[in-house]
Amino acid sequence: MDHHATTPVDPRVVEAMLPYFTEHFGNAASRSHAFGRTARKAVDRARAQVATLVGAAPDDVVFTSGATEADNLALKGTAPRIRERTGASRLVIPRTEHKAVVDSARRLAREGFEVTWLDGETDGRIAPAALEAALDAGPPVALVSVMLCNNEVGAVNDVAALGALCRARGVLFHCAATQGLGYLPFEASWAALVSLSAHKLYGPKGAGALVVPKRGATRAPVVAELDGGGHERGMRAGTLAVPLLGGFGAAAAIQAAEGPAEGQRLAALRDDLGRRLGQAEAHHVFGPPAGPARHPGNLNLAFDAVRSEALMVALDDVVAVSSGAACSSASIEPSYVLRAMGVDRERAAGSLRFGLGRGTSASDVERVAAAVLSAVDALRKRSPEWRLRGEALDW
Ligand SMILES: Cc1ncc(COP(=O)(O)O)c(C=O)c1O
Repeated sequence: MDHHATTPVDPRVVEAMLPYFTEHFGNAASRSHAFGRTARKAVDRARAQVATLVGAAPDDVVFTSGATEADNLALKGTAPRIRERTGASRLVIPRTEHKAVVDSARRLAREGFEVTWLDGETDGRIAPAALEAALDAGPPVALVSVMLCNNEVGAVNDVAALGALCRARGVLFHCAATQGLGYLPFEASWAALVSLSAHKLYGPKGAGALVVPKRGATRAPVVAELDGGGHERGMRAGTLAVPLLGGFGAAAAIQAAEGPAEGQRLAALRDDLGRRLGQAEAHHVFGPPAGPARHPGNLNLAFDAVRSEALMVALDDVVAVSSGAACSSASIEPSYVLRAMGVDRERAAGSLRFGLGRGTSASDVERVAAAVLSAVDALRKRSPEWRLRGEALDW
């Protein structure tokens, strides 16, 4: 139940990838022979499939190694160019963004950009009014980056509205759309730059894309971070990972076809999990209420007097969950996303993130909920904090 960290590769995707490791192993940039042309055809197909998932044109897709690279390219590959052209040297970035965006913005700050950091609302979403206020108070803005769906609390942003505010002011708008694609409405045209990742939608790790939709005759000015053979129309050099990209394309096509129905199934399972865990005394759910503002597979909650590490150890044989983003799991600091939503350290230190996915069944939910409730009970029995809480109530 940690599908926000990654997902298994769909067997149909594996099937589509296999011939491109051995039989069709050509380099997609080799134009002089059939091996290269066959590889090229596979990449073209994948490009069209990925574009279709987000309503973009195939030419808008720049393949990368994943969303981290796409986020880096979106920020560091454009902001310096915009600053040169317009003098705008401010970025507006929510504190609730993924580290790939936050750390790219921090690097740009070291290179002289000013960053206006936005706090999330208490439900983790970014209010269009808050973005509007940030855009209009202060020096000109070069770039704004807001994710489609938060990877910890499942909060779904109104990307269409946020993008329109930026467009009206001539500000470049980047959207990391790695979580929830296929389940949530999304159009690449809402943003000037869109990051995607294959392994979040049952494709392979190591493949992703930066989508750069054309607006009229122009696109966001992306300068390659890597120098090399001029691949991807000069925006990302490096031999294309044909099998992985073929897998990304196949996964995108499956997610486009099956995502809406699967989203409904996940929402029903997640709601059931929420109801069952809601039987625990003194628990707190983080993020928006179930519905269109929340990822259908996401539940994030804490139980008073229970730390997430202790709960995860107790549940290790039963369920794979996390206390926050996988990339931050090595740290014992409470989630910076929850902190930016105004959750206090103590409560944030108890957060448990569930991300349900294609492999999750109703009986899994039943079994996991029972195990969590009994682990919470056992941990509380040993918790002086919990006992003191009872005494306080007795007075
Ligand atoms: C919102 C968001 N952005 C970026 C990433 C990183 O993507 P990748 O693993 O493809 O580099 C993730 C997932 O880890 C994510 O959830």
